[in-house]
Amino acid sequence: MTNEVRKLAFADDFIYAELVENPRNFAVDDAVVVNLSPRPLITGDEHPAIVPAWKSTWLKGGIIRDGEKAALIKVRRKTNLGGAGLRGWDWLGNRIRSFPRDTPLYISSFDHAGTVRTDPFVFTNERSTPEHEQEFDLRLNLWWSPGDTDCFIHNEHPFLEVHTQIHGIGRMQKFRERDESTIYEDVVLPIGASHDPFCRVTDENQWTYPWHRYYADTDSIWLAIELHPKA
Ligand SMILES: [Fe+2]
Repeated sequence: MTNEVRKLAFADDFIYAELVENPRNFAVDDAVVVNLSPRPLITGDEHPAIVPAWKSTWLKGGIIRDGEKAALIKVRRKTNLGGAGLRGWDWLGNRIRSFPRDTPLYISSFDHAGTVRTDPFVFTNERSTPEHEQEFDLRLNLWWSPGDTDCFIHNEHPFLEVHTQIHGIGRMQKFRERDESTIYEDVVLPIGASHDPFCRVTDENQWTYPWHRYYADTDSIWLAIELHPKA
């Protein structure tokens, strides 16, 4: 079935957020479109273009000509957007004891967006052709931080992750050590941008991440895309 649409778990009065399965000539008025599939998503009519796997764009009166699964997200109300923590989003310090007590980083509810079949080495761009595909659970959530927030340097995840900027401007940064003075890469994320994956696969369902953090330059909402190996 084409153009099957449902709301994402974190959609509310402030944030338009939908999942569309098998989009075909699907019109997008104004939203960041994220390709949630290992195959290319095609946009445009007279000048078709490709949004590669796990990448994104900002359509404004455009169309998705063809795709497998896409998220459409847009902040539609900015006034009091920063009250996310007062309307159900959780402060990360409630979940992680070691999280700095004064860092305003808030997480929305998760959306379980189905399963996806891919080769983790293809996901990380370490291989171009799939050799060993496996099933992953696809999990999405949004994050909120006000401007000039250091969202904590970390290097462990039991999943493959990438992020898409939805509102404001932020960065994904990499460090040699858990110390911001050891930065060695700074990936700026304007609205509609997704960074390349920066984990490397080391073994079956194992991967390493460099020390990394998200830094919110301005008030920011960004999407986390997580691929969890199925048991
Ligand atoms: Fe991370």
